[in-house]
Amino acid sequence: MNDITNGSQAPIAIGCDHAAYQLKEIIKKYLSDQGIDVEDVGTHGEESVDYPDFGNKVSLMVSTGQYERGILICGTGLGMSMVANRFPHVRAALCSEPFSAEMSRRHNNSNILAMGARMIGDIMAKEIVNVWLKTPFDGDRHQKRIDKFDGGQE
Ligand code: RB5
Repeated sequence: MNDITNGSQAPIAIGCDHAAYQLKEIIKKYLSDQGIDVEDVGTHGEESVDYPDFGNKVSLMVSTGQYERGILICGTGLGMSMVANRFPHVRAALCSEPFSAEMSRRHNNSNILAMGARMIGDIMAKEIVNVWLKTPFDGDRHQKRIDKFDGGQE
């Protein structure tokens, strides 16, 4: 089995809106094929919905620690990333290529990956997920910087 997570098999919460339903299904299968448990909060079709309804669900699951990590996909990824970053302890990264995904893990310890289904293709999305899942946080000075989020001072 090609283990995309380098051993980390933590379950992932995933959500999307109508614009990203197809890509969400592809990413869900990609994760399941690696033996990763996926909690799919919807949406479950292409009927128009409001992205915050699904973004809020995944963000709350990560914010409360119920899930370590989540993936949110909408048309551009912008709305989902905005929704997610309003939740305490959530650090959502909107990524359109793998280098941002890698650095969002190494330097920002991102715990939600946001993507835009109208911005990138399936293969790029899978590679972003692959890199995002397997890259660990660098810690040290980067943790000190994260501790300053939400107006925190040294
Ligand atoms: C839906 O049309 C679109 O607005 C949504 O998917 C997302 O791109 C919002 O940021």
